[in-house]
Amino acid sequence: MKILVINGSPKGKYSITLQTCNYLKKLHPQHEWDTLFAGQQIRSIEKELTEWMAGDRQTLCPTLQRVQEADLLLFSYPVYTCLVPAQLHRFIELLKLSGVDLRGHCATQLCTSRHFYDVTALRFMEDNAADLGLRMLDPLSADMEDLQKPVGQLQARQWWQLIEWKMAGMPAVQPSQKRVIIVADLAPDDEELAQKISSFRALLPYETELFNIRDFKFTSGCICCFNCSKGGKCSMPDGFDTYLREQIQLKHDSIVYAFRIKDHSMGSLFKLYDDRQFCNGHRTVTHGMPQAYIVAGDLSREENLRTLLISKGEIGGNYLAGIMTDQASLEVGAKQLVWALETRYTKPSTFYGVGGMKIFRDLIWHMRGLMRADHKYFREHELYDFPQKEWKASLFTYLIGFMMSNKKVRRMMGNRISEGMIAPYQKVIDEARPE
Ligand SMILES: Cc1cc2nc3c(=O)[nH]c(=O)nc-3n(C[C@H](O)[C@H](O)[C@H](O)COP(=O)(O)O)c2cc1C
Repeated sequence: MKILVINGSPKGKYSITLQTCNYLKKLHPQHEWDTLFAGQQIRSIEKELTEWMAGDRQTLCPTLQRVQEADLLLFSYPVYTCLVPAQLHRFIELLKLSGVDLRGHCATQLCTSRHFYDVTALRFMEDNAADLGLRMLDPLSADMEDLQKPVGQLQARQWWQLIEWKMAGMPAVQPSQKRVIIVADLAPDDEELAQKISSFRALLPYETELFNIRDFKFTSGCICCFNCSKGGKCSMPDGFDTYLREQIQLKHDSIVYAFRIKDHSMGSLFKLYDDRQFCNGHRTVTHGMPQAYIVAGDLSREENLRTLLISKGEIGGNYLAGIMTDQASLEVGAKQLVWALETRYTKPSTFYGVGGMKIFRDLIWHMRGLMRADHKYFREHELYDFPQKEWKASLFTYLIGFMMSNKKVRRMMGNRISEGMIAPYQKVIDEARPE
């Protein structure tokens, strides 16, 4: 593949995001990698494209030629104030103005940030890629320190594997024995949803089970009695807590939900099912299990519902293999679910997951006297990641702060501060070996 990394960071070669691209480049030397410093060199690119647009446009200018010749455009950028840096924004603006034909070309995006509104930046790129006719593949939104950690390195490698698989046309993956359950709110006369469920089951190379929540005799919805807060035992006599754990969560590798859109949601019965999951408190008990949704109804008009479906997976640590509304999306979703199950795909959470878990973390800590089962789980799973525990890293920022605030020291240091910032990433790259 010819890959053009469009580096949108104004920091140029000192970009932290670019280090992940460099890491992938080191692991995959079989590809042809090229980097366009769009963020740092936006003024000269602007001049080049403006002059080209004013000319006869017989042949493409060098920058547009690099863009058009690439098999894959890899937008690499930091999240800046909930979007992308202005320089990258300008580059996209220029691409659109130039009228360069990128229809059908493939692109993907890799960003780093602290996950504060990374979701809006990702969506901004997706929407603009769609304007350009680009086929946008899955993004990687990493924390700026992720590459320094083994799990972050694994997620970068897994993401790249996914991109290569997609670029190769998503060939069939050798299936092992996995168990998938479809939890549905299926009315007896809903032939459309029934048809979608059976198509999906036929597409999967696994045995699947169907659980229609209409068949379960719920006593009532959650009444917030907090009986479950100590040991997870629900006070309702219908046995749903045991059924949920033993028949749905523990027995399966993936849960797929199927529903018809009602009142801009999954319907009141699914809401009852979700509320009753409060017997698991704020414990992410299905963490790592990929999930998907089969939907009947017009989802294109339901932005809030779509956000909700995405957020649920993000908070629970579940890879969302697809929100499937028609035959084409069922086929893609089934392939992606198999891929995720067989490769044990994990990805970093976005703002929805990271932000949500920080709120839960503080809430559980505050209410640990009452929410004992949650408190135990958070302690055992090291989810109390309060920043004040990282005193060494905090101390380091004081050192950097001192150097940055002192003009003389800053002048003396020159580029060494930027070099120091990327040094731990450089070490990871140096130690990486081609896969
Ligand atoms: C102007 C500016 C705005 C930023 N805005 C955000 C933000 O909205 N959300 C976030 O999580 N991080 C934000 N950051 C942090 C950067 O996204 C983060 O440091 C990133 O990893 C830098 O990548 P780079 O070294 O490739 O430029 C901001 C940084 C700057 C300088």
